[in-house]
Amino acid sequence: MAQNSSLARLSSLAKSPYNRLVAYPTGDGEEVKSRIRQLEQLEITGLDFQGRLKTDRLSILGKGVVGIVVIGLKNNRRIAVKIRRVDARRPSLIHEAELLRTANSLTVGPECLGGTTDILAMELVEGQPLPEWLESLMGRGLRSRVRSVVKPLLEQCVRMDAYGLDHGELSRAHKNVIVSNDDVPRILDFESASLMRRPSNFTSLAQYLFLGGSIAKKMIRVLGPVNRGELLRCLRDYKAGGWRDAFEATTKVLGL
Ligand SMILES: Nc1ncnc2c1ncn2[C@@H]1O[C@H](COP(=O)(O)OP(=O)(O)O)[C@@H](O)[C@H]1O
Ligand SMILES: [Mg+2]
Repeated sequence: MAQNSSLARLSSLAKSPYNRLVAYPTGDGEEVKSRIRQLEQLEITGLDFQGRLKTDRLSILGKGVVGIVVIGLKNNRRIAVKIRRVDARRPSLIHEAELLRTANSLTVGPECLGGTTDILAMELVEGQPLPEWLESLMGRGLRSRVRSVVKPLLEQCVRMDAYGLDHGELSRAHKNVIVSNDDVPRILDFESASLMRRPSNFTSLAQYLFLGGSIAKKMIRVLGPVNRGELLRCLRDYKAGGWRDAFEATTKVLGL
């Protein structure tokens, strides 16, 4: 088998340059050891440094305020592994793993494959962030492709709202929604999610997609003009509790 040079077995993670990413940003020795044990516990056998972002000369999937996200190997399957930053404001990823499982029960989010204090293992979502996906679209059938992504995305939000799971960061969906290579919208990052807040997934996302800045302009260019007044009224009705009818009305206003 050809050697994959981006692949690092767990035994090499204690060494440079890997250690700094495993316990970002310090690379502290004790932290690194503890994280290697947690990876073992989750049956992750290696990390594969490939992805669209580069940090410390290594390629990764992403970097947020809580974690560094890299590709991992579990039972020879490629998965996504979020490694808690040492300087994160959250002391643990266990709560995030629980909320991701809740989302999964509503068929939302990457499948949770296990979580420890510092490691969250989940399904790898391969695709593009929503704005880039929208930008990359060309040719015929563009409008129906956008509809076929936007409607299920809004439906995911309605399911979370009905259950009482608030994602918390869907008004900044540019990073938290990926459109997979087979055109399925996937909501990521349940780090700020909560079962205690009044959920506003649908209204936050609808505002971001159709009433906000540059993405709204692009959406409208593809889907056709949207009556802002009517859309705002739908969102108000939705908030007032008539969410099922308001959702239907919204899809009509948007021509979905
Ligand atoms: N399951 C996944 N599959 C593919 N990429 C992911 C996955 N989870 C996260 N990412 C990438 O990593 C980035 C940071 O992850 P995120 O969960 O937002 O971390 P943080 O909680 O630190 O903000 C995301 O914007 C995305 O690009
Ligand atoms: Mg994030």
